[in-house]
Amino acid sequence: MKVTTLHPAFGLKIEDVNVKSLSHAERDEIIKAGNTAGIVHIPGQSLSEQEQLDFTSIFGRIRILRVNRARDSKRPPGIVEISNIDAEGKIVPPSNDMLRFSKGNMMWHSDYSYTADWAAQSILYALEAVRKGGETEWASTEAAYDALPQTEKDRLGMLTATHDRFHSRIKSGFTDFTEEDYKLTPPVPHPLVTTHPVTGRKSLLLGSHVSAIDGMTEAEAEALVAELTEFCEQPQFVYAHSWTPGDIIVWDNRSTLHRGRPANPTERRVMRRTAVFSPGVEGPEVQVAGA
Ligand code: OGA
Ligand code: MN
Repeated sequence: MKVTTLHPAFGLKIEDVNVKSLSHAERDEIIKAGNTAGIVHIPGQSLSEQEQLDFTSIFGRIRILRVNRARDSKRPPGIVEISNIDAEGKIVPPSNDMLRFSKGNMMWHSDYSYTADWAAQSILYALEAVRKGGETEWASTEAAYDALPQTEKDRLGMLTATHDRFHSRIKSGFTDFTEEDYKLTPPVPHPLVTTHPVTGRKSLLLGSHVSAIDGMTEAEAEALVAELTEFCEQPQFVYAHSWTPGDIIVWDNRSTLHRGRPANPTERRVMRRTAVFSPGVEGPEVQVAGA
């Protein structure tokens, strides 16, 4: 197994490994990387849905989407397909529900930040990739936090944000939710500055799901989120990945934001995503995922 740096601020690339037959030492090193590096790129893999679920579960308990109406319900629980291909294998038009829903992925976000239990790692596996565009970008919200002036760190450390999945989906033009959808994922508060349960490092928890900040008007909250997001998306904090089929990227939603970039709609892009539960943003109940 060969481990190299992916980006000066964060991330690792792990090569010469087969995630379907990990030794104990390799498994431990990948779990550690997934909990400390922000993102981990593992190229050259070949995974069935079940094999991806098996690999995902080394990090923790598999997360199952509760509101999954817009996606292909034929997938096994825990598998989210991010693709522009319909059941007959044809490219779907951009007006398709599945694609409209995925448009939300194009705004910076942290997966499941609209839930109290949040996510720890997410794992995206590329089956088919486009030749141009369709990258996924990650921003290190730890590196960005570290670079803030102390006075700003102190001020932001006092703030609590509300995360609401409908806020972000409505912004991306997806409004047809049911009463039941609203009941399943009501808005939740999170501190704006979070502490990583494994490393103890601080980061900014932002993203498109943020709908309000305590003590601020809507306009003030929006302006602050926009300002901080611009700070985080500076090139020194961002890694952009152009996908090759067989790529796996494991990322830590507790220390990164991510977004998808526009892809040529006439080319096939087929990705499969899984995620695990976070054991808790902070506090004594925390277990290291996979341990
Ligand atoms: C995701 C996501 C972006 C992309 O899978 O969680 O945000 O580039 N994907 O597909
Ligand atoms: Mn996502």
